[in-house]
Amino acid sequence: MTRSQTTLTEAQTAEPLSIEAAAAPTELPRSLRHIVLTGFMGAGKSTVGRLLAARLGWNFLDLDHHLESRAGLSVPEIFARHGEPHFRRLESTALASALGQPDTVLALGGGTPEFLTNRLLLEQTPGTVTVFLDAPFPTLFDRCVLQEISRPVLADPAAAQVRFLERQPFYRRLAKHTIDTSSIAPAETVDAILLALAPPEPR
Ligand code: S3P
Repeated sequence: MTRSQTTLTEAQTAEPLSIEAAAAPTELPRSLRHIVLTGFMGAGKSTVGRLLAARLGWNFLDLDHHLESRAGLSVPEIFARHGEPHFRRLESTALASALGQPDTVLALGGGTPEFLTNRLLLEQTPGTVTVFLDAPFPTLFDRCVLQEISRPVLADPAAAQVRFLERQPFYRRLAKHTIDTSSIAPAETVDAILLALAPPEPR
């Protein structure tokens, strides 16, 4: 299947729809079992994922929360007590567990696609499509500051920007669709995802 770049702007120019009309399609390919949202911290993976799951009547799973409930520790606690490599091991096992749950919208952690094991799991689990929520680093950083969530990887902003740049190719290669979220609201991102995933109209 070909990868596509989808932004709401493109969707609107292809067909000049109101947001209400763009919100219409909720039909998905019948084989689809997992919609996975990827992107850097602040991309809106959890907010958009929750809204998307509600629209579809699917489950929503945030990989960080899934990992935290399995470990009995918060992400910052895992980083502080056991270090990042341990966090990454827990992240991979939590991902395998999450992909066992059908009809689920899954929000990855920002670093999940950096690791080959995780990319293989995502690429090889049948019925799985990954969507990249993209935005420039300054936009993402500002959103994270406003969210006031403790994120160990953001402690050093310059190092975080290096990670952002290094991860871009992984996000892009993994994703079948890319949504530019820099100037659209979460509900509009949901519409753009549903438009991108909708099966083609029968001719
Ligand atoms: C991380 C992103 C976080 C979380 C952890 C590490 C990263 O998830 O998994 O703090 O390496 O980018 P969010 O992208 O949901 O903030």
